[in-house]
Amino acid sequence: MSTNTSMKTIILAAALTVLCVSCGSQGKGGGDSAKASEGKSLFAKAGCQGCHKVDGVGGNAGPDLSHVGSRLPDTEWHVRHMQDPGKVRPGSAMPAFGSLPQSELDALAAYLVTLK
Ligand code: HEC
Repeated sequence: MSTNTSMKTIILAAALTVLCVSCGSQGKGGGDSAKASEGKSLFAKAGCQGCHKVDGVGGNAGPDLSHVGSRLPDTEWHVRHMQDPGKVRPGSAMPAFGSLPQSELDALAAYLVTLK
């Protein structure tokens, strides 16, 4: 009986360990936040900031993006929009950023969805 109980405890502990390891590597895990901080510096480097304000810093030609992640939480939408804004938003005055490498578009999108 007691062997059985400790066996169960071990199995439970092992299961929790597995759950914990997998929860750390997805969603808000280290990979995504590293990407988002890369995106943050790209936002200035790629010229987004010239047209968009975030927390009071940036230009006025485009909408303020301080809370864009609340309205537009889908990273895939952001990638499509940056690649060809007019396709997602007909008549958009935003230039296309399709020449940026996919990894930089992903990083920018990861950053944008954190702006809540
Ligand atoms: C020349 C000015 C300009 C630049 C540079 C620019 N944008 Fe824009 N952006 C706009 C305008 C104008 C809009 C509104 C039309 C639209 O939604 O496409 C817009 C819209 C957006 C939106 C949608 C905002 C909303 O609230 O609906 C996002 C997100 C965005 N831009 C991100 C970016 C990112 C990221 C970059 C850099 C890679 C960038 N923009 C560069 C002008 C610009």
